[in-house]
Amino acid sequence: MVATVTPFPEGFGAEISGLDLSKPLSGEDRAIVYDAFLDHHLISIPGQSLSPGEAVTAAGIFGDDLEPHLFKHFHHPKTPLIMVLSNRTEDDGQGGKKPKGMADAGSFWHTDLSYKPNPAKATMLYALEIPLDGGDTLFCNLTAAYEALTDAMKKRLDGLRAVHNYAYVPRDVFTSGKVTPPPDCSQPLIRTHPETGRKAIYISPFYMVRIEGLAEDDSEALKKEIYDHCLQDRFRMEYKWRTGDVLAWDNAALMHSATTKTLDPSKHRTLWRATISGEPAF
Ligand code: SIN
Repeated sequence: MVATVTPFPEGFGAEISGLDLSKPLSGEDRAIVYDAFLDHHLISIPGQSLSPGEAVTAAGIFGDDLEPHLFKHFHHPKTPLIMVLSNRTEDDGQGGKKPKGMADAGSFWHTDLSYKPNPAKATMLYALEIPLDGGDTLFCNLTAAYEALTDAMKKRLDGLRAVHNYAYVPRDVFTSGKVTPPPDCSQPLIRTHPETGRKAIYISPFYMVRIEGLAEDDSEALKKEIYDHCLQDRFRMEYKWRTGDVLAWDNAALMHSATTKTLDPSKHRTLWRATISGEPAF
C-alpha cells in the first residue's frame, strides 16, 4: 500500500489516504506519514477501525514516548496510554452512572502540555463516534503566524519567555483537590522546531500566565497583541470529524481548541487520545 497525501485547501493540514493503521505500515508509508506530519503540521487518516493496542501502535509513528494523561480516571480500561474523550455515561457498578470519558478536553486555545518542561510533541486522536454536526476541532497555525510577523516584532519577541501553569484558569478538578496541578513552567515565546528548524510562536492562552520580565500591564498588553495576531482567520481552520478518522498534530507548530463545551449532550462523540512526549522547547 502506498499512501497519498492531499493538502487541505486552508493552507495547512493534509489528508493521507490508502492506509490501514490496524496493520504494520511499510517503511515507505511510515516515512510518508511522518514527513507529512512535519510538512503540514496536521494530518488526517480516514477510514480506520482500531483496537486500543493498534491505536497505541499508530501513535508510535510520531514518537516512542507515549505519556499517560494526568486525569487517571479517564484512562482507557485496557491501557493508560489512551485517554477516553466522550460525552456518554456508563454504569458505575453501584447502580448509578459515571462519565465514560472526558466530555470536554479543552474548548479553549492551548498547546498540549505546554505547562510541563517536556511539552507534548504530538497528539493523536481517533474518532469512534461522531455526531452529524458539532464537536469540530479548531486549529491555529503558529508557524505561519510567526512567519507573518514584522521583522521588528520578531526581534521584540525573540528571547522572551512566558510562565505556563495548568491551573492558571481555576477549574473544579483543581479546586476540589482531585488533581494536583504541576508547578509553574517557563517556556520560550518563540520556539524553533527541533526537526524542521522552522520557528513558531509558542503560546497556550489558557495556560499562559504572564510574559517574564514585564510589568503585569505590559505582559497583558503583549499577550493580547500576540493572541490577536495569531487568531486571525488566515491562520485558522476548523476540522470536521468523520467516524474512523485518525488525526495527529504537531504541538511545536500549532495550537488547537475543542468545541465540545457547546455540544448538545444528546449528540454523542467518543474519541481516544494518545499524547507523544517531546523534548524541552528551545
Ligand atoms: C484535545 O484538545 O485534545 C481534544 C480536542 C477535541 O476533543 O476536539
